[in-house]
Amino acid sequence: MKRIITYGTFDLLHYGHINLLKRAKALGDYLIVVLSTDEFNWTEKHKKCYFSYEQRKALVESIRYVDLVIPETCWEQKRTDIHEYHIDTFVMGDDWKGKFDFIKEEGADVVYLPRTPEISTTKIKQNLKK
Ligand code: CTP
Repeated sequence: MKRIITYGTFDLLHYGHINLLKRAKALGDYLIVVLSTDEFNWTEKHKKCYFSYEQRKALVESIRYVDLVIPETCWEQKRTDIHEYHIDTFVMGDDWKGKFDFIKEEGADVVYLPRTPEISTTKIKQNLKK
């Protein structure tokens, strides 16, 4: 069983997120999504979520490609999650290209998938404001 892990906020779930999760799952058999908590988003990423952690978790859990959703509370957990969840492949969108290459030191493959063009949570929020 090949185990995949990916990280993100997934606020205002959109088709760019679904595309990412579908391709991540296709790299293996079991997909874990580590979902940034509201506090982590605010203090570390300076992002205020529209949907709460519990709401975002319920949405992401309902996606057929996702097997498990756990909280992301700090940057350092990426190294330890690899061992705790016996991860084979770490996946992120290519907006993070090169940033997590150190995960290879923990024994997992690191894959950056191309982002889906022209959609993001930030863009949705900006467009709705107009
Ligand atoms: N993602 C993607 N294609 C998009 C948007 C996001 O592949 N068009 C991927 C990101 O690269 C990341 C995951 O989806 O691996 C979660 O991204 P997240 O930051 O939660 O979504 P964004 O829409 O990028 O949100 P924001 O605008 O707040 O950065």
